[in-house]
Amino acid sequence: MLNNHWYLVLEAREVPKKKPIVVTRLGEKVVFWRDQNGTVCCIYDKCCHRGASLGLGKVVDDHIECPFHGMQYDSSGKVTVIPANGKNTPVAEHYKVNSFIVREAYGFIWLWWGDQHIEVPELKFFEELKQGFAYATFSDHWNVHYTRAIENQLDVVHVPFVHKTTIGIGHRTLVHGPGVRRTKNQLRIFVHNTTDDGHTIPLKPSEIQIDEHQGFNELQFRFPNIWQNVISDKVRVFAGFVPVDEENSVIYIRYYHKITNLPIIKHFINLIGLITSKIILAQDKRVVLTQIPKKTSLKMGENLIPGDTPIVEFRKYREELLALNPSKPK
Ligand code: FES
Ligand SMILES: [Fe+2]
Repeated sequence: MLNNHWYLVLEAREVPKKKPIVVTRLGEKVVFWRDQNGTVCCIYDKCCHRGASLGLGKVVDDHIECPFHGMQYDSSGKVTVIPANGKNTPVAEHYKVNSFIVREAYGFIWLWWGDQHIEVPELKFFEELKQGFAYATFSDHWNVHYTRAIENQLDVVHVPFVHKTTIGIGHRTLVHGPGVRRTKNQLRIFVHNTTDDGHTIPLKPSEIQIDEHQGFNELQFRFPNIWQNVISDKVRVFAGFVPVDEENSVIYIRYYHKITNLPIIKHFINLIGLITSKIILAQDKRVVLTQIPKKTSLKMGENLIPGDTPIVEFRKYREELLALNPSKPK
């Protein structure tokens, strides 16, 4: 995992009021709940007394209560009450589990994976998507490491094959570039695929002159795990690639649009966007789940082509970020 980053881990509506939810994220089994103000809390899902799952327990005021012997935990993971010892008996410091810093923003829950003792930086999201768009979201579980899921959305070569009945209609198999630009923690990918007339030599990635008015489509990936397809000023497809463990991930796809403000039409467009996105993602999933190994790395013995440049750039940048903050979170 990339240390000292905010990871998108859940959709906000998945954490209900007054009920804990247990999930595995970034290889850890954790429990989320909301306190009385609705603020999301997250601690390890293993009671420090005798190991029961806290997620089976209940939310009591701001705390979560273990279902086994009733110990109550606050959002820092500290036990505040041990019923068997009496409400007024102080609780020793070592009755605690680890906690995570979490935030709710833009309709998602984000988890700070890193040093808990530094001033946590601002959570970055795609600026244009922060307001003005209507959206609808779905999620899907994939039995691959999240790097595979990310690379699939950076792969512009697969479109006419995997999606030949949907977004890949037209058999545009010739891949120009793609052009890739790095900004801080972000990759911008400029895509231009055409049909193959048998004599055109595709432009090399270094030959791509980025001009947004010359028919390039733009994809954006922001480390550690969010992506958007800039379809137009009014339509975007967003994805969050959530690490579950070394062999599993959850993908959140959100269809954003501001085509109209009329409520019924707005919801209808959302519905169409969702259905289309589900069909397209299922086409991807069918193939990506067969890829071996389930996790990618910079040097993994593949025979790559120029069209794979966004994938190579993703791997290189990820390696650099891993080297920058190698320590494991406490
Ligand atoms: S196992 Fe949780 S209170 Fe005993
Ligand atoms: Fe695809």
